[in-house]
Amino acid sequence: MLAVSAVSQSADDPLSGLEVGERPDPQAPDGWVVVDLRACALNHHDVWSLKGVGLPADRLPMVLGCDGAGVSDDGAEVVVHAVVPSPGWAGDETLDPRRTLLSELHDGTLAERVAVPRRNLVPKPEGLSWEQAACLPTAWLTAYRMLFTNAAVAPGSTVLVQGAAGGVATALVQLGTAAGLRMWVTSRDGARGEHAVALGADRAFESGARLPERVDAVMETVGAATWSHSVNSLRPGGTIVISGATSGDAPAKAELTKIFFKQLRVVGSTMGTRDELERLARFVVDAGIEPLVDSVRPLAQAREGFTRMVAGSVEGKVVFTT
Ligand SMILES: NC(=O)c1ccc[n+]([C@@H]2O[C@H](COP(=O)([O-])OP(=O)(O)OC[C@H]3O[C@@H](n4cnc5c(N)ncnc54)[C@H](OP(=O)(O)O)[C@@H]3O)[C@@H](O)[C@H]2O)c1
Repeated sequence: MLAVSAVSQSADDPLSGLEVGERPDPQAPDGWVVVDLRACALNHHDVWSLKGVGLPADRLPMVLGCDGAGVSDDGAEVVVHAVVPSPGWAGDETLDPRRTLLSELHDGTLAERVAVPRRNLVPKPEGLSWEQAACLPTAWLTAYRMLFTNAAVAPGSTVLVQGAAGGVATALVQLGTAAGLRMWVTSRDGARGEHAVALGADRAFESGARLPERVDAVMETVGAATWSHSVNSLRPGGTIVISGATSGDAPAKAELTKIFFKQLRVVGSTMGTRDELERLARFVVDAGIEPLVDSVRPLAQAREGFTRMVAGSVEGKVVFTT
């Protein structure tokens, strides 16, 4: 089958280890199923894997990808949940210390077919296209859990999203707006901030700008470059939910004093559960949300999508069709 794999890793030149080519068809062990993928989508996670973060070199070559939607062996239309718990784990799989994401231990979704545990199949709502469904399992699920499980905000609250244009950031804006939250964004680029406003954000600010008032919660995925601004932008008792550190995980200042003096909550968030993915898919359809898609290309042209992401040019999700 055609697949997009990591064959080597380089922190400085991640695309040097990217291969688009033929790989063996996946085999499904007991309790697993092969899904015939119709669409899959790119995440920053795939770039980290090519840089050698989170994917040990001794597991290469590895088919990349955490996002996919397709048809299972019984003909059902499904969205694939990417979090694979360790054998025997019960409860919230994101809390399993031995859980992996597809493409970390088992081959991923940037392929014509993928093998996944049967419990990881979520019905694809009829109202979603293949391309839209493929956007949901990683960036959108992460945004859903950040906002609705971990942020402790109610409709009418003001939420700041650090970054405006990426997969998680656009999902946060679209989900939060649909749920009655007042969504503010920052961006390194004015035009990308304005696009977020067109998508539903209430206001956009330059990265690091002083805000007109303090916010109830900050959604942080940028990391070092925005950490101090996130702490300074919160009202006392507010919450930072952090799920990523694209610009690095060592901020110049940890801001410990402000965190305890303002009694801030700092909450880590990673992916979401299968049940959250099912609720997310239903919410997206019921609320009439159309996930922002940066571009759709055949899987054979995946390298161009990776190039856009590494350059920091994407707006929304980069989707591939098989
Ligand atoms: N914990 C989890 O489960 C989980 C799940 C999904 C993603 N993540 C992490 O979240 C991060 C975002 O993922 P993604 O897929 O949304 O990536 P992406 O599509 O490449 O988006 C990158 C985002 O970073 C923003 N950004 C702002 N300042 C930046 C800077 N100095 N350097 C680089 N980027 C900057 C960009 O905003 P502007 O261009 O508008 O400024 C954009 O919104 C990644 O680090 C990813 O690994 C974690």
